[in-house]
Amino acid sequence: MRLGRALALSLAQRGYDVMIHYNSSVAQRDDTLQELAACGVDSHALQADLSDVAAIPELLRRAKQAMPHLGVLINSASAYQHASIMQTDAALFDQQFAVNLRAPFFLTQAFARTCGQGCVINILDNKINYNQFEYAAYLLAKKSLAEFTKMAAMELAPALRVNGVAPGVVLPAETRSEAYVKWRIEGIPLKRQGETDHIAQAMHYLLENPFVTGQALVVDGGESIQHIGRHFRNYE
Ligand SMILES: NC(=O)c1ccc[n+]([C@@H]2O[C@H](COP(=O)([O-])OP(=O)(O)OC[C@H]3O[C@@H](n4cnc5c(N)ncnc54)[C@H](OP(=O)(O)O)[C@@H]3O)[C@@H](O)[C@H]2O)c1
Repeated sequence: MRLGRALALSLAQRGYDVMIHYNSSVAQRDDTLQELAACGVDSHALQADLSDVAAIPELLRRAKQAMPHLGVLINSASAYQHASIMQTDAALFDQQFAVNLRAPFFLTQAFARTCGQGCVINILDNKINYNQFEYAAYLLAKKSLAEFTKMAAMELAPALRVNGVAPGVVLPAETRSEAYVKWRIEGIPLKRQGETDHIAQAMHYLLENPFVTGQALVVDGGESIQHIGRHFRNYE
């Protein structure tokens, strides 16, 4: 189960009706719809390739039509491509920005136009606190999404609240080895891997607290606060 599905199920467990979006994962869509139905809520699925910006207003129109009470948008879909600055060509750059920044930008705009009020949560990445150049375009898009979260919170207040959740090591990409995950955990102050429920808890907090907007809640066991830099105490 990837993160979007876990967040959808967690919302359903709290009684939210859920419209899921998918692109290519038809089997996972069907499994998720079954699990959502088992929670006793209304659920639907809509397909869209989010790199096609023209599809976004129609996606929101259909979502609102199926669920007139639509009030929350969770931007979780993501493209995650390994490539340093020197390895990135224009096509890869455009694809990473299209899915990780342009899509949530226009989804938020379409949500604001279609629904008028509610909450948006952008799923970021705790690596927005680093300059991990091995994922140059992905990370620059996520850093921009964090800035967009603040900017949208300003423009769309008071009708909409816009926040972000920045997960750390929760569901490593399937290409990651156990040794890699162990190595990451060694560098996490809380010495553990995160669970999807930790991210869901952050999402619920942001949805339920009406005095919070424009924030990015980092949920990473402290991984991204441990960069102490060089100063007199560790001077050798
Ligand atoms: N997993 C982690 O531990 C972790 C850590 C830090 C941050 N995050 C962030 O949390 C979010 C969810 O992470 P994840 O690992 O669950 O994501 P993921 O498995 O890499 O991707 C989630 C979904 O994005 C959809 N997607 C990709 N390209 C798309 C496109 N062009 N149009 C529409 N949908 C597209 C795919 O849908 P289909 O399968 O239907 O094609 C995919 O299942 C992401 O924003 C990620 O950056 C995750």
